[in-house]
Amino acid sequence: MEAAQEYLKEQNEFDDNDEPSSLPYNSPFRSTRLHIQRSNVCSRAYFVVVMVFFHVYILNVIALLLYVHYNNGPGDLVSGDGGSSAADSDNGKRLPHPAPSSRELHVEDYSQSFSLPRIEGIRVGHVQRVSLVPDKTHEMKTLSLKPLLFEIPGFLSEEECRVVVQLAQLKGLMDSQATASSQEQEESNQPLLSLSTEEVFSLLDLNQDGLLQKQEIVSHSHSQDGTWLSPDNLRQILTGLESCPTGMLTLGDFRHVYDVSQHPGQEKSGKLHSQFKQRSKHTWLFQGPGSHHVLRTLRNRVTSLTRLPSALVELSEPLQVIRYEHGDFSNSHYDSSPSNSETTCAHTRLAGNTSALTEVPCRYLTVLFYLTSVEEGGESTFPVADNRTYEEQALVQDGVDLTDTQETCSRGNLRIKPTAGTVIMWYNHLSDGRGWMGELDEYSLHGDCPVRRGVKWVANSWINVDPDYQQQARYQRVVAQRHQAKSGMDYQSLSHSDLHQDL
Ligand SMILES: *[C@@H]1O[C@H](CO)[C@@H](O)[C@H](O)[C@H]1NC(C)=O
Ligand SMILES: *[C@@H]1O[C@H](CO)[C@@H](O)[C@H](O)[C@H]1NC(C)=O
Repeated sequence: MEAAQEYLKEQNEFDDNDEPSSLPYNSPFRSTRLHIQRSNVCSRAYFVVVMVFFHVYILNVIALLLYVHYNNGPGDLVSGDGGSSAADSDNGKRLPHPAPSSRELHVEDYSQSFSLPRIEGIRVGHVQRVSLVPDKTHEMKTLSLKPLLFEIPGFLSEEECRVVVQLAQLKGLMDSQATASSQEQEESNQPLLSLSTEEVFSLLDLNQDGLLQKQEIVSHSHSQDGTWLSPDNLRQILTGLESCPTGMLTLGDFRHVYDVSQHPGQEKSGKLHSQFKQRSKHTWLFQGPGSHHVLRTLRNRVTSLTRLPSALVELSEPLQVIRYEHGDFSNSHYDSSPSNSETTCAHTRLAGNTSALTEVPCRYLTVLFYLTSVEEGGESTFPVADNRTYEEQALVQDGVDLTDTQETCSRGNLRIKPTAGTVIMWYNHLSDGRGWMGELDEYSLHGDCPVRRGVKWVANSWINVDPDYQQQARYQRVVAQRHQAKSGMDYQSLSHSDLHQDL
């Protein structure tokens, strides 16, 4: 109304001016006036629109904050070395489950069982606080998003580092598989050394108490040393152990159970990485019942850190401790394996009848402990971390091989200097988008630069997960059933006893 009146007023003014030639100039003039007025009117609407957007934006920010809190918060608050089990299984359950409508095959299993929590990286350099031990919070910094990689300084105390190194030294270190020269390569093509019954017993007896407990056999999985036990061997031993009234095997019992004439280890892990080179010494430390309290504590802390169901962590490989002396290194490699129809995960072999397939390590994530600081060299290198693209062929260019850490360590995208007590953790696999483990993350390629000065001690804690959810579930059922069948025996408490250890 007002506008119309004003317009009329203007019209009158123009009329009063009474200039005959004004018309051609008039219309543009008038239209500008009108435009100004219209935009005045519009600006109110504009204001409303802006306010609506503003509110939507604020709501989005709040939703995002809630989302981040939801994913990271609850675990931080409750999980600690003492209470990790409950906290983590709760955390797993609280995760959103996939909408049933859009899921085809494994709906039931996905909805009734656990999923794999995944920590948010947010962005490179992002720092989040995590509560892993009762009296302290740790800072966890995102180092890269491809692979999703975190650094947690002070994860281990100096004392804990020292204990792990000492335990490894007591256990004795063995040479890592090295295929440095053609002669050695030839050797590695030979059938594996045949182990005596005593040697097999000793290798299986992870806590070296002279008895084989079930968990030692269950948790014994394929390592890069090569498979020295076939699934048949392993099942044979387990069956023997179960028929034994004490539920444990002495060396004497073991002789009856294990048939040494069955040739162990026809398969070579070297097949997969035929050019994989490394030089170092390593050993395996069992972290289950009967092991040193520091080792059990560390395992619980890994559960808290990764927020994975404690059963997964407990059924994973023993801790691998590695020593790199001057010049020792490892070329870039993957800790896990791409899934394909010709391979099967080593750790779930008890649940499968697929001994014909090649066994490969399946490791959802790696937690790498730095047990010493290194004066010079010895960095962990991730040559393609956060690279814009990744192509395997692009790793070798102009005669430069990015996986050759002896030559090209300085060219990698990300290098991490070992600092005693620091832990780095990364996901070897992507998510499958349904709360389970997906494809191998090609960006997780990593190696160890040669040590130039000092000695580097590290430990690897690998969390084994089968990308085939059904197979993993079957495996865990097999283990659980066997635990139940032995109720009244120690086994009943095996998987939980160590969760209530004091620091
Ligand atoms: C084992 O073999 C049987 C029969 O050959 C088959 O029905 C079953 O699905 C197999 N199990 C696995 C885990 O492959
Ligand atoms: C890393 O990214 C660059 C830029 O996209 C690309 O040219 C190069 O080939 C990538 N490297 C690898 C190993 O794929």
